[in-house]
Amino acid sequence: MIISIDGPAGSGKSTVASLLSKKIGFIHFNSGSLYRAITAHLISNDIDVNTLDNSSILENISLEVKFDNTVQHTYVNGVDYTNDLRKPNVSTLTPVVSVNKKVRALVDKTQREIAKNNNLVIDGRDIGSYVFPSAEIKFYLDCDIKERAKRRQKELNNKYSLKDIEKMLFERDEYDKNKKVAPLIIPKNAFIIDSTNLTIEQVVNKMFTHVKQFKLAHN
Ligand code: DC
Repeated sequence: MIISIDGPAGSGKSTVASLLSKKIGFIHFNSGSLYRAITAHLISNDIDVNTLDNSSILENISLEVKFDNTVQHTYVNGVDYTNDLRKPNVSTLTPVVSVNKKVRALVDKTQREIAKNNNLVIDGRDIGSYVFPSAEIKFYLDCDIKERAKRRQKELNNKYSLKDIEKMLFERDEYDKNKKVAPLIIPKNAFIIDSTNLTIEQVVNKMFTHVKQFKLAHN
């Protein structure tokens, strides 16, 4: 069974996906980690992203995901990049790497393989719309940009001004919504949750109730 959670940057997808997955005994699968791991691999092997289309680099990459209890580990060619995924240089280059069609094809294939044998709560940008359009349950987690900026500021230990973070999120939203490959959209049949005035627990409880209702209706 697949439960997808899509939504804009900073809406809390990953946090609620992790909590919901524990509550219902599913695996939490973070799709952004796959794009980040490929980027970390390119950086550590000095591979220019612009060379990907005219080489067989991606055809020869092995991308693997393993779960150690509930912790996701993402490997490229046998190297575990889990600890590198949030490094600033990886974060900066991942948006560029993630619009490459060959990269997306590789990530999509890997995600679909994992879904064959696991019950997943999977968060990302194109999960319910493109990767798993027939996911049993789809959520779209929204949140006002000002509230997202406040949350991000706290995460970053108040190192940046609210205005700067809001600007960064605005640019990110525009980029995600308007990109030609897999733009961020509200997936068809998605249950929309606006988390602006909700705590994390309230969001997770709403999702949990929805999952219970779905299970009752389908058992
Ligand atoms: O959610 P994140 O910040 O870890 O995502 C990293 C990058 O990968 C970001 O540029 C968006 C992209 N991404 C995507 O295009 N599709 C997904 N399903 C998940 C992430």
